[in-house]
Amino acid sequence: MLLNAFEKRLVTGSLRRVVQRRLDAARLLKLGGRVEDGTVLEIGCGRGFGVEAALDLFGAKQVHAFDDDPQMVGLAQRELTKRGLMAGVHAPRIWHGNVHEIQAASGEYDAVFDFQVLHHVTDWRGALEEIARVMKPGATLYLVESLRGLIDNPVWGRWMNHPKEDRFTLPMLTEELQRRGFEVQAHRNWGKQFVWLVAARS
Ligand SMILES: C[S@@+](CC[C@H](N)C(=O)[O-])C[C@H]1O[C@@H](n2cnc3c(N)ncnc32)[C@H](O)[C@@H]1O
Repeated sequence: MLLNAFEKRLVTGSLRRVVQRRLDAARLLKLGGRVEDGTVLEIGCGRGFGVEAALDLFGAKQVHAFDDDPQMVGLAQRELTKRGLMAGVHAPRIWHGNVHEIQAASGEYDAVFDFQVLHHVTDWRGALEEIARVMKPGATLYLVESLRGLIDNPVWGRWMNHPKEDRFTLPMLTEELQRRGFEVQAHRNWGKQFVWLVAARS
């Protein structure tokens, strides 16, 4: 589901980069460690701050990323070019695509990053299935998500354009990950609103 104008401003503003690096990426690093030299995928990359973090904080060698919104793809390409990251043989590959049909071979990735995307996806279970498909056995899923407790908040709900039906709680998310062969290695949650989670694909 595409973002409304308000959320688009939030996730493409400079403050988002600070939050994503200092809070989200820092917490995921603490929970799961670095990727070190692997090929990683970011789903729903927004303005590309997660791609940058995968490269310089997590030590990924090659990053692939896509977003369902062509405007985001353009913003990410511009942002990463501005930061000098779009050059060389290991330049990130960014494309317009949907998490339901990831344009990648099965077992291609050493890690997948989800920074606040799944809660926008109506069929989030189908998305988990597709994410599992493109991961190598033993690969790591790094995930930061908004839980049902936040989506159901009436004030938040007025500002955001999220699907409202069948949103996940932390136990639901954990159960669906396990069902798809993931082992949750560590997580932290902020009440029933947010979760930072690292899982290994068995
Ligand atoms: C809340 S934003 C997060 C953006 C970025 N990951 C960040 O943390 O700043 C959610 C992003 O997911 C994208 N998105 C939503 N549904 C998607 C889907 N089905 N497939 C791929 N991307 C999707 C949106 O276009 C948006 O860029």
